[in-house]
Amino acid sequence: GLKKKEVHVLCLGLDNSGKTTIINKLKPSNHGPTLSFTVFDMSGQGRYRNLWEHYYKDCQAIIFVIDSSDKLRMVVAKEELDTLMNHPDLKHRRIPILFFANKMDLRDAVSSVKVSHLLSLEDIKDKPWHICASDAIKGEGLQEGVDWLQGYTE
Ligand code: GTP
Ligand code: MG
Repeated sequence: GLKKKEVHVLCLGLDNSGKTTIINKLKPSNHGPTLSFTVFDMSGQGRYRNLWEHYYKDCQAIIFVIDSSDKLRMVVAKEELDTLMNHPDLKHRRIPILFFANKMDLRDAVSSVKVSHLLSLEDIKDKPWHICASDAIKGEGLQEGVDWLQGYTE
């Protein structure tokens, strides 16, 4: 029979951005008969962010989660993203990066277009990327992102 292709996905982003909530919502969903995502949920707290890099070598896709309502820390998220993009284990690989502009339900949330400007995503030329606004609690916007990711990992 067909063997399922297992894709290792790293879920990164600052603490409190919604990574664990997103992953828990994604788990029960079906990614098709030939593809299985194994998603690694990393802690986003400052003192643990240096652990992320140990997982770069073996990952085939990245989900980067941003709290769209956390304008104060948008610059910190950008710094972490820049560090990640320049890491030797990722720099020259065309692995897809899916961004979730999460917490779109909050009154203070900025649009996904605004988030992509604040993070200068248009400067990412050497990797396919995509951004979706999401509400991880209601599960909105998540499937669109996963569908996009699937297209790059099949
Ligand atoms: P760390 O594990 O500390 O790095 O955080 P995390 O990125 O895993 O965040 P987590 O999923 O634990 O979510 C943090 C808080 O935000 C929780 O209280 C969630 O319920 C809440 N949250 C997550 N997604 C959303 C969302 O889309 N909208 C709203 N309003 N709250 C959300
Ligand atoms: Mg978490």
